Amino acid sequence: METKDTLDFTPDFAKAHAYFEARADYVPTPMTKINGPRGCVVLAKDETGRLGLGAFKALGAPYAVARILDHKWQEQTGEETLNSPAAKAFVASQTFVCASAGNHGVGVAAGARDAGAKARIHLADTVPESFAERLRALGATVVRSGAVYEDSVAAATKDAEISGDILLADGTWPGYTEIPKWVMEGYCVIAEELRAVFEISGEWPTHVYLQAGVGGLAAAMAHMIRLNWTEQPELLVVEPQAATCLQDSHKAGRPTQATGPESNMGRLDCKDPSIVAWSVLERCNVSYAMLTEKEGATAASQVTALGIPTTPSGAAGYGAIAHENDALLESDDYRPLVIISETAT
Ligand SMILES: Cc1ncc(COP(=O)(O)O)c(C=O)c1O
Repeated sequence: METKDTLDFTPDFAKAHAYFEARADYVPTPMTKINGPRGCVVLAKDETGRLGLGAFKALGAPYAVARILDHKWQEQTGEETLNSPAAKAFVASQTFVCASAGNHGVGVAAGARDAGAKARIHLADTVPESFAERLRALGATVVRSGAVYEDSVAAATKDAEISGDILLADGTWPGYTEIPKWVMEGYCVIAEELRAVFEISGEWPTHVYLQAGVGGLAAAMAHMIRLNWTEQPELLVVEPQAATCLQDSHKAGRPTQATGPESNMGRLDCKDPSIVAWSVLERCNVSYAMLTEKEGATAASQVTALGIPTTPSGAAGYGAIAHENDALLESDDYRPLVIISETAT
């Protein structure tokens, strides 16, 4: 169903918002204030309870599953809804395939289960068994594929080629860009929820710290912030020092593979950028930061101690605040925003 291969990103974020508004289990996630370094106050968008799936990724794949099924059914029959017995039989015959560092797979598995379809998720050896158990509990088939994330991406791609099942990746590469844009369209809901809060409070953030793996979250947020936030913050994309693929791509002026050891920020440990995300970030005037393994671990302990149990991946944005100079941290005008992107595992 790949019909075009472009780096454009023009999300129908209202459609994504409407999809979630229509779900009985949808509520905007909370934004709280937590302490930061040198007495600064940090706005923390707490994604740890998102749709009961433990991470913001619950907004991406489940929405993409719904869009893909609608699209395929409409292509085949011209019908817009999936309510007929024939439509239900069609859905039950569909299997979604992906690789995951953890949370994307949970989203694919939950989305497929809720729709009545099936899911098969490829996990590298680096992904904790706790994720595999959660995936099986959601009815997905789990396949252990390779030593590192990139091996599992290659395995999922090959699987979909051979089986003819639907590849639902969160990364993009030449020839495969359209489905992940729907995943990113779902993430746009976070920016819209935040905009609604800031429009009322008037307390717009001055700096937004966005942790990145392949870059889908950071790009969706950056796109939406530049598109329609009333007051424009500085945007910082935060990567593990061990996986700076977006920063390396920015420096090189083209998508570039990062090299580095395994990171304890496992969900951010992606060595290949999403080419769509990279391209969006190039247009959004962002800066880059990187965290050491120690800084990631420290950030996780700090945010957890402040009442939001999370991991180094979940707290990476918060960790980058400590890189700012004291004058900024101590300034009354500094209002940093972070996304606590997953619960502790
Ligand atoms: C908890 C968490 N935070 C951040 C990210 C980074 O998202 P992206 O890969 O879209 O950059 C992920 C991706 O899996 C994640 O699971």
